[in-house]
Amino acid sequence: MLTTITMFILAYLLGSLVPGYWVGKIFYHKDIRDEGSGNIGTTNSFRVLGVRAGITVLILDLLKGTAAGLLPLLFQSNINPMIIGLGAILGHTYSFWIGFKGGKAVATSAGVLLAYNPPFFLMVSAVFVIALLISSMVSLSSMIGFGFATVVSFYFHDWILTLIAIVLTIFVFYRHRANLSRIKNGTESLVSIGWYYHH
Ligand code: G3P
Repeated sequence: MLTTITMFILAYLLGSLVPGYWVGKIFYHKDIRDEGSGNIGTTNSFRVLGVRAGITVLILDLLKGTAAGLLPLLFQSNINPMIIGLGAILGHTYSFWIGFKGGKAVATSAGVLLAYNPPFFLMVSAVFVIALLISSMVSLSSMIGFGFATVVSFYFHDWILTLIAIVLTIFVFYRHRANLSRIKNGTESLVSIGWYYHH
């Protein structure tokens, strides 16, 4: 039990390191929360800081989820990696560095899925990319990706995977409340290659 709590706290601390915020502050002297959607995630890093920062934030946000998911391996524990991964997702969304606020749980959750079940991660990522190519909306594609994750998880006959997929899907929709209103109003920002070239 003590090991599980230790791993969960470590995962939370890892998740709390919000690269979107720090990359903006250190390398661009900008507070990413003051611009674009105000989110500290990958999409707003692309939007506000540019393509290099966006890729860096994507990789770091993803990897902290993966690292958290691999903690049970490091601690030789039998606990399901996704339970520990939840710590990193909570750290990312309610980071103590920035007043218990944070991102929308997409890249870090994907990183946890990568650590737990790479084929599942690849399937969900593929659906995300297809949705993005069609809609040009990262927010909508993220929600579609997690919705798909819940549905497809049933085919893996792994009840913890299904349970966590359901929890994550609800959480990701909850964190995208503002995006959902913008999608409804037709004001959600779109992603295009030209958009990246501006930076
Ligand atoms: O990375 C989170 C994404 O789904 C939406 O981000 O900045 O467009 O609200 P954003």
